[in-house]
Amino acid sequence: MPVPTPALLPRPQHLVVGEGELLLDAGTRVSAPDELADVLAWLQGALRPATGLPLREGGDDAAIRLALHADLGPETFTLSTGPDGAVVRGGDRAGVFYGCQALLQLLPPAVHRRAPVAGRRWALPAVEVRDAPRFAWRGVMLDVARHFTPKHDVLRFIDLMAMHRLNTLHWHLTEDQGWRLEITKYPRLTEVGAWRSESQVGAAEDSPSDGRPHGGFYTQDDVREVVAYAAARGITVVPEIETPGHVRAALAAYPELGVTGEQRDVSTRWGIEVDVLNMEESTVEFFTDVLDEVMDLFPSTVIGIGGDECPRDQWRADPRAQQRMRELGLEREADLQAWFMRRLDDHLTARGRRSFGWDEVLEGELAPTAVVASWRGMAGAVTAARRGHDVVACPDELVYLDYRQSELPNEPIPVATPLTVEDVYTRFEPVPPELTPEEARHVLGGQANVWTEHADSPRTVDYLVFPRLCAVAEVLWADDERDLEDFQRRLDAQLERLDAVGVEHRRASGPLPWQERPGVVGRPSTREERAAHMAELTRSITDG
Ligand code: ACM
Repeated sequence: MPVPTPALLPRPQHLVVGEGELLLDAGTRVSAPDELADVLAWLQGALRPATGLPLREGGDDAAIRLALHADLGPETFTLSTGPDGAVVRGGDRAGVFYGCQALLQLLPPAVHRRAPVAGRRWALPAVEVRDAPRFAWRGVMLDVARHFTPKHDVLRFIDLMAMHRLNTLHWHLTEDQGWRLEITKYPRLTEVGAWRSESQVGAAEDSPSDGRPHGGFYTQDDVREVVAYAAARGITVVPEIETPGHVRAALAAYPELGVTGEQRDVSTRWGIEVDVLNMEESTVEFFTDVLDEVMDLFPSTVIGIGGDECPRDQWRADPRAQQRMRELGLEREADLQAWFMRRLDDHLTARGRRSFGWDEVLEGELAPTAVVASWRGMAGAVTAARRGHDVVACPDELVYLDYRQSELPNEPIPVATPLTVEDVYTRFEPVPPELTPEEARHVLGGQANVWTEHADSPRTVDYLVFPRLCAVAEVLWADDERDLEDFQRRLDAQLERLDAVGVEHRRASGPLPWQERPGVVGRPSTREERAAHMAELTRSITDG
């Protein structure tokens, strides 16, 4: 009988199935050099609960051995298993960690359970795997501002990312509806800005409100814990402080940052608020102060400054904003926004960091080191790469995981266009075909975006994110070949693993009864409507 091919996800570059197996039992030993002690501890922690095996540390003759191997590149690993033992070699710590993740995928999915699983044989089939990622930026943006995600659930999300060899958590920390990051110099940002009185339920303009207060924030100690937890799993946390729009929570805390100076509340409705920052020097200073604390907390070179969906009506109507434009020698309100983004970009650049903005930042000029997230389709990716900026591809119609997962009428709060796991797998391609090979080198990779207006709990996030994130992860890791049938076979195994860790993913058949939101109104659109809208919005950044 042929030996079944192990269902590794993402698909490996090279996999050969050998003969025999390595049975894990009470005598199985594990080992690693000192510099990999924490990876070894992680692997023991991953294997012990379900297997109940002690997996004690042994010496050079241990059955499972981890090692660094200088000839392998970054995040690259080999995994060699057979009756005589298993060896994971990585070009760096992350490579070894990913080799361990692959090793877990050779075992029955139940190995991911966090409680003893009785009556199982735990055996690694004989394989030779060699693998490396296609892209260096394999990300997810998690919006913790619309609905707050408690620290415990952020850590769980990081574990789920690591299972999929995703390495970048873009943490969207501030919004109209909440400011989630403690800033010691400006305590009202979280004292006031982290709390709202209620939330809109549904996506229609006249949707009702729930009447239930909502909020929360991360202390700076929380942040340090999250950053360290992520780093231990090969994940960089890229924070985002949104400016100069989507700032109502900041304005609720410090009204003097606004154009009108009037007191605002933290938004309780979804959508784009008209209230934006004023462009005074004091406001620049406020946000560079915030970025100073952000840089102290986050070692990431790349720091998000937002830039999307900023209405300019208030600047147009405000005499002081118009005077400010004259002072600065600027003609258009768009130039005023670009000027502000450039000030924050300069501040980061002078300190050795790189700014990260949504593709609207292409309406101005940032330092060449600025990184651009192409979200309104791929227009921003093309323009940014041609101007020499590095690019993260996150086109809304292919990786916005809040978009409805099918045409079924019982999708919970269906918004935007249908986006199935098959769509993501077959159509998401981070490198636009228009780019020359030289330009294409600017594509760092891509990310899924998880907006949470309509996800008020981690259970709903699970439903929106999985299985589509499995497809995103594969596109960002594996070579650009797509074989849907083979992906489906491996996805079936991955869903069993997700079941084992308690992820309430969407089933192929549609939502289960508790995943539905009967009576809550969405706002679906067709693909054609959405594409036409995005083409209109991106006209100002489409060169030529
Ligand atoms: C975005 O979806 N407004 C970046």
